[in-house]
Amino acid sequence: MARKLIAGNWKMNGNRATNAALLADVLQGLASGAPCDVAVCVPSVYLDQVSQIAAGTPLAWGAQDVSAKESGAFTGEISATMLKDFGVRFAIVGHSERRQYHGETDGVVAAKAQTALAHGITPIVCVGETLEQRDAGATEEVVKRQLAAVIHTVGHCVSEIVVAYEPVWAIGTGQTATPEQAQAVHAVLRAQLHAATEHASGMRILYGGSMNASNAADLLKQPDIDGGLIGGAALKAADFLTIIRAAA
Ligand code: 13P
Repeated sequence: MARKLIAGNWKMNGNRATNAALLADVLQGLASGAPCDVAVCVPSVYLDQVSQIAAGTPLAWGAQDVSAKESGAFTGEISATMLKDFGVRFAIVGHSERRQYHGETDGVVAAKAQTALAHGITPIVCVGETLEQRDAGATEEVVKRQLAAVIHTVGHCVSEIVVAYEPVWAIGTGQTATPEQAQAVHAVLRAQLHAATEHASGMRILYGGSMNASNAADLLKQPDIDGGLIGGAALKAADFLTIIRAAA
């Protein structure tokens, strides 16, 4: 089993002053070492700031998206090469908010994952069903379809990705999947990875969706939950640190 990974997704939050304060508190909590891998995925305009603060600490940093294109006339996009310029280790791809509000298809998400990998950035590939899909009994079919697109595109490199299961109905709602519900989907994803690579047991499948200081330990105890992708609770140092300790 791989070392667990707790990654914060700051989404579109923060400013220079709050970032500095949050990171100072998180880094103080990690001063005696981190019990698991830890990262923060921040708005790209703050990568410079965050990289300067976190360099040489146990905290890695990442982006929340990456362009599938290398360079050129793609206004507003940020390339993998640019992210590498700021020491980015991870890039979230296919977050449900990108799929929902920016029309990202499975194909686009797969292309982004491939571009990230080609530049030595670990894509955190998000999959997850909506409430309607869950109620219709389509959870398994949806997450397998989303992951299959990435597997098909990146081939044997799939062992280099991180997967995040984020049920859309649990994101920002305070309604967490139960440990059993999450584990059931993680097991499906693990089996799918096993069929694609011999390295599946060492890959990390994170849970995301209202993971917080009180429910993290029970979720992280599940055999196929290898970490968390944390939204709201990653904006509060004490909560984020509690989740990190729960992953020990
Ligand atoms: P919340 O933890 O705020 O529910 O967000 C989860 C998420 O979307 C992380 O990517």
